[in-house]
Amino acid sequence: MSRLLIRDLAQVATPAGTTAPLRGRALGEVAVIENAYVLCEDGRISAVGSMRELTSPLRDVEELDGRGLCAIPGLVDCHTHACFAGDRVDEFALRAAGASYEELHAAGGGILSTVRATRAAGEDGLRAAVERHRGWMVRAGTTTFEAKSGYGLDRDTELASLRAIRAADGVPTWLGAHAVAPEHDSADEYLDFLLTEVLEEAAQVAEAADVFLERGAFDAAQARRYLEACRDAGLALRLHGDQFTEMGAIPLAIELGARSVDHLEATSPEGVRLLAASNVVGVLLPASALFLGHPMPPARGLIDAGAAVALATDFNPGSAFCESLPLVCSLACTQLGMSPAEALAACTVNAAHVLARADRKGRLASGYDADVVLLDAPDWRYLSYHLAGDVVGAVVQGGRLVWAR
Ligand code: NIG
Ligand code: FE
Repeated sequence: MSRLLIRDLAQVATPAGTTAPLRGRALGEVAVIENAYVLCEDGRISAVGSMRELTSPLRDVEELDGRGLCAIPGLVDCHTHACFAGDRVDEFALRAAGASYEELHAAGGGILSTVRATRAAGEDGLRAAVERHRGWMVRAGTTTFEAKSGYGLDRDTELASLRAIRAADGVPTWLGAHAVAPEHDSADEYLDFLLTEVLEEAAQVAEAADVFLERGAFDAAQARRYLEACRDAGLALRLHGDQFTEMGAIPLAIELGARSVDHLEATSPEGVRLLAASNVVGVLLPASALFLGHPMPPARGLIDAGAAVALATDFNPGSAFCESLPLVCSLACTQLGMSPAEALAACTVNAAHVLARADRKGRLASGYDADVVLLDAPDWRYLSYHLAGDVVGAVVQGGRLVWAR
């Protein structure tokens, strides 16, 4: 048996309760133990408590000195586009000089420029890229990540992307319907191709399907056709919705029983009301709104109306070149009106729920996977407080120390 004792921690902080997703008042409740320990056995947490209760010495145990550190659950990034090659730094400079994201997209840049680089990378190149991005995420405290395909848009590259994500231990989502591939004349013709030529194999690797429901991408009828076929093939459903335009993503997500609808920067009060009354999680991506200089999603309205919300990075080369959930938590507290406790729950237990892993991920409690972030800080709220700071001191994954500053 392998045992790791993280001892003498300044604090252990974890979302309260045992259920998921958290909403309303429960979203803001964090259980904190001062002067505490976390004991990991064979990759799972076997005990969490106060040092005072740790009386009898444990045998055969490796110890990690937690003095001056705070333990929180390993962070869960439930929305990334981590499988891409190349970059969009030229486009970034053009945007800084005044060009808009939508203009660049319409001119054949944007997503399609990453598609060209991703197709050229080959499967080995994609595996190396996801592995590199995973390293960045781990250093920012992410121990579980979802990643979408969607920069291949052809059969081979979409399937290679999903395999590369799985090989890096990511949770793969098939975003075949990200943009219309350049070799197809219309969105409908491209969807015919996806559903007849790619879906069957994609469904064997991916856990969920996602669609970009937006002007210039796919409309609600096309999103419905794609998602219904994916659901029939056994995939869970996600949607990119209300990023620039409100085009019916929330009602569609609710009707189809999607796990989440993500972005929501353009969601109206009626959309807030509908989502709050449903079981669909609203995934908020404030780094993307910041990176594009767009309005922030209505987080406070959603939470106060009772919606289940999660936070994620949206890590991608075009609209959010940011892998840091701690930075996203800072944005949540400074721009979205969320409390540090709500931010913590949104990128741990609620994000784990979006990935159907809330029984194992997102809390520090006996029986959960031993994924632990050690913050180099005297109080767990530094996660949000230290804006772009080097707040992650060490990362334990599956009961093993995988990174330390
Ligand atoms: O979530 N909106 C669509 N997809 C991504 C951006 C992809 C890109 O710009 O490469 C997003 O923001
Ligand atoms: Fe996205």
